[in-house]
Amino acid sequence: MEHDSASRVARYKREAAEAAVDRFFQPGMRVGLGSGSTAAFAVRRLAALRAEGRLLDVSGVPTSRATEALARELGVPLTTLEEHPTLDVTIDGADEVAPDLSVIKGGGGALLREKIVAQASVRVVIIADVTKLSPRLGTHWPVPVEVLPFGWRSQQLFLESLGARVVPRMRADGTPDVTDQGNRVLDCAWGPIDAPETLAARMEARAGIVEHGLFLRVATDLVVAGPGGVEHRARPS
Ligand code: A5P
Repeated sequence: MEHDSASRVARYKREAAEAAVDRFFQPGMRVGLGSGSTAAFAVRRLAALRAEGRLLDVSGVPTSRATEALARELGVPLTTLEEHPTLDVTIDGADEVAPDLSVIKGGGGALLREKIVAQASVRVVIIADVTKLSPRLGTHWPVPVEVLPFGWRSQQLFLESLGARVVPRMRADGTPDVTDQGNRVLDCAWGPIDAPETLAARMEARAGIVEHGLFLRVATDLVVAGPGGVEHRARPS
């Protein structure tokens, strides 16, 4: 049963990713390539379209080393924000999506590059299976917070003083999980968050916190797939 539901969720992820690539990637675009299992389906779709001779002049900025490796393996052309500081569109996954299209990201630890690439994009399309939808951010997932290794325990206490239950992210072998930048990740469970803007501002004012996984007013569009099919929603104005 568990396997069934896992494969159903994987199918929804793929359907959302493919629909988003088909709709939002256009010839000649510079695009952001997200990270995680849903975003990987989007990279694969782009590669499949290239194999059909379509979107050959599209190049992408990867949001993680893992996405860079996948794109290279599939022959998807890559570029950088140095060459193209503004991107046409980014397609990326999310851990949790609220009705106003604010999201939690960073389950895979790529939140910093993901936010840089998203903020450099004219359009940001979140792709998700229906299990990611949430009435309020924090209901289902902790907020990943990337902190410098220097002084990270002080950041843990600071985040606890903001009401979070903080779990430093570890690898299966018991060593600290570090990001592509060599920083640590603290997973911060607040439960449903009443005022995400206030919380984000508190974290942004703290030296040593490099970035947090609250992406507020960043996504412009959501493509979500579930038992009823694939649906597109634009951010409510
Ligand atoms: C990576 O750091 C994340 O932001 C992912 O986009 C997010 O965790 C969603 O991952 P899945 O698509 O694997 O569920």
